[in-house]
Amino acid sequence: MRFGHFDDARREYVITTPRTPLPWINYLGSEDFFSLVSNTGGGYSFYRDARLRRLTRYRYNNSPLDMDGHRIYINDGGTIWNPGWQPAKTELDSYTCRHGLGYTILQGEKNGIAAAQELFVPRGDACEIDRLTLENKTAAPRTLDVFSYVEFCLWDAMDDSSNFQRNFSTGEVEVVESAIYHKTEYRERRDHYAVFWANAPVTSFDTSRDAFCGVYGGPAAPEAVKAGHCSNSIAHGWAPVGAHHFHLTLAPGEKKSIIFGLGYIENPVGEKFSAPGIINKARAEAMMARYATDAQVDAARRALADYWQELLSGWQLTSGEEKLDRMVSLWNQYQCMVTFNMSRSASYYESGTGRGMGFRDSCQDLLGFVHMIPSRARERILDIAATQFADGSSYHQYQPLTKKGNSDVGSGFNDDPLWLIACTAAYLRETGDWSILDEPVAFDNDVTRAQPLMEHLRRSFRNTHTHLGPLGLPLIGRADWNDCLNLNCFSSEPGESFQTTGPSEGPVAESVFIAGMFVKYGREYAELCDHLHLTEEAASARTAIDAVEQATLTAGWDGAWFRRAYDAFGAPVGSRECDEGQIFIEPQGMCVMAGIGRETGQAEAALKSVEERLDTPYGVVLLQPAYTTYRLNLGEISSYPPGYKENAGIFCHNNPWISCAEAVLGHGDRAFAVYKKTCPAYLEEISEIHRTEPYVYSQMVAGRDAPTFGAKNSWLTGTAAWTFVNISQYILGIQPTLDGLRVDPCIPHTLASYAVTRRYRGAVYHIRVENPHAVQKGVQSVTVNGAPIAGTLLPLAKAGENVEVVVTMG
Ligand code: BGC
Repeated sequence: MRFGHFDDARREYVITTPRTPLPWINYLGSEDFFSLVSNTGGGYSFYRDARLRRLTRYRYNNSPLDMDGHRIYINDGGTIWNPGWQPAKTELDSYTCRHGLGYTILQGEKNGIAAAQELFVPRGDACEIDRLTLENKTAAPRTLDVFSYVEFCLWDAMDDSSNFQRNFSTGEVEVVESAIYHKTEYRERRDHYAVFWANAPVTSFDTSRDAFCGVYGGPAAPEAVKAGHCSNSIAHGWAPVGAHHFHLTLAPGEKKSIIFGLGYIENPVGEKFSAPGIINKARAEAMMARYATDAQVDAARRALADYWQELLSGWQLTSGEEKLDRMVSLWNQYQCMVTFNMSRSASYYESGTGRGMGFRDSCQDLLGFVHMIPSRARERILDIAATQFADGSSYHQYQPLTKKGNSDVGSGFNDDPLWLIACTAAYLRETGDWSILDEPVAFDNDVTRAQPLMEHLRRSFRNTHTHLGPLGLPLIGRADWNDCLNLNCFSSEPGESFQTTGPSEGPVAESVFIAGMFVKYGREYAELCDHLHLTEEAASARTAIDAVEQATLTAGWDGAWFRRAYDAFGAPVGSRECDEGQIFIEPQGMCVMAGIGRETGQAEAALKSVEERLDTPYGVVLLQPAYTTYRLNLGEISSYPPGYKENAGIFCHNNPWISCAEAVLGHGDRAFAVYKKTCPAYLEEISEIHRTEPYVYSQMVAGRDAPTFGAKNSWLTGTAAWTFVNISQYILGIQPTLDGLRVDPCIPHTLASYAVTRRYRGAVYHIRVENPHAVQKGVQSVTVNGAPIAGTLLPLAKAGENVEVVVTMG
């Protein structure tokens, strides 16, 4: 069953009923100010950091669901409704939600009044604009009471939701005409405030939640909305909110707009106050003046549309396969942008208070984003590298606001260092900007110990190489990619963190997955050394890599697939010797992507085993058989009931690894079949079962052992970046290399032709791939601007040039 449809021409997903199986959200903002908005107007806003600079409150695990948000109420003669249906839930005569690129439009109609709520974050400004357009579609004049409503968060979202003995006393506001200023803690150490404004004079307002909602009221039926007016309350402590009220009349056929804005303002310390205790509002006033008219808002919307048009124009696909085209050209790249901005911090499943930016997560997100704005990718690489320790290990997470490593979680996740090589190499392949390797970068944010980025990569490589276990495979530490495979943890106390309990380093537990990474990304490191003429270093790196490859083919091999790991006692994990958890997905994908076992046939065998043992119609499960009991020697993975999350769920992130691996072996049919299984647009018809948004990937779909089906944790997942790498580079075969763009597809034999527009190092390549012999792999000829070339590597074009490429497979 569907709950809406794709509107490809407008680049929107149009939701046609508010009763989606779960809130289906969108992200507004791509620089500093971010808002999440659901299809019923729920959501929240923050500036840069969802924990430390939270503007509005959100109750995640609430019932009823999704009550907090960007609210508009209409009281039409006692009938109270919202353009997005929630929270009043009055049945609407018509409803649509259009989620587009950085904007959302909620349209509701009730008794002849149409209301459109248009939300977006303008480019270059730290605010959200909410334009409400009301239309009287009847022949009689209509008088309405219209209200806006947001509930402020007292900045630190963690403290806000826990430290009530203090924060019930700290809330402060100021009101000047239609601008409501939230200034909690501004009197002391904060130099920032929020402003919630309207562009027209209000009839009344409220800033106290008790006054607006009523102590035992709530957003579903606020007392002020029921009464038809606010009480001009000024909050002192308790819960500061912002609510505007307009008493207005619409003539027959009349349309009227009210522009609301929610802004974040920082003042220099010396300019905080305009009078004792009164905040300096100059910057807020300037912001409000920028969005005072419809023409200004229209221009800001156009600038946003142009920005996205430009971003997406760098990678466009026309294949004739509608679902594929819309995912590749639009939604997958859009999600990559969101994961790049958010890492795993703020969604409807990630509260923004738990994790900041993940080291490995952000490095991987960059793989799907780097082609869009390389300059931001560059900045990100340098930020991430600065959270590395001098021995090459790294903090596992860092806060986006401070860019400092998060010591609650610390380090010891032994895959982390290698992801830094992965993303830097991807950046170099995309841009050819070798200067990044010379950039001085701090260790542990200590600038006195800065070293060139290349030295960081060297230490990443060395960190793995100097942490090998008894079998010559890399030690796993706290965990590798799979945060829940905790082989040195041995936790028996309820509530202990699996990620921080026990020694961070065990001398025995080894990871075959990190071995695969070391071979893949170690080789990429060696190529960088080649390029820098570090001949000896490249040679010794390759010797080290060869040894780990051998260990993987022997100690890491189980007979028909790659083992997953060795535990702290030296016993294999992911082996037929095990009673449960005999085969895992991760090493099969990573080792084959690294080319391990390609010559020996082991790679073919491993993927065959995946197909036989892990495949389902909706993706490849993480392991089989699922663990049915808690295992002290394995940690969190065995804490999940069978079929969920890392315990045999379909963990979408590593499905593309299998698809990439199939492409490495030339299996285009199977690579594409695996790609399609988890691809949202292909699952739209079963939205009632899948439950999450049909336009973005989710982290996890319940596996075949799970009693209930469906996906969870949509939006913030490395799946976005990896599926984009998978489809764009491995399947469609448009591959950035250190020396230029290569075209080497591995496609389903049924795909007869496709065209890609790809911006690369400033030039635009128009690539047409023809597949006249219905093959899956193999390039017969390539022409560039009509002239044949040898091989598949396109000559580098000059910035600004347009290049016509025709690739004929066969
Ligand atoms: C984390 C990733 C991790 C994955 C598998 C995600 O929730 O953000 O860093 O690789 O889970 O455990």
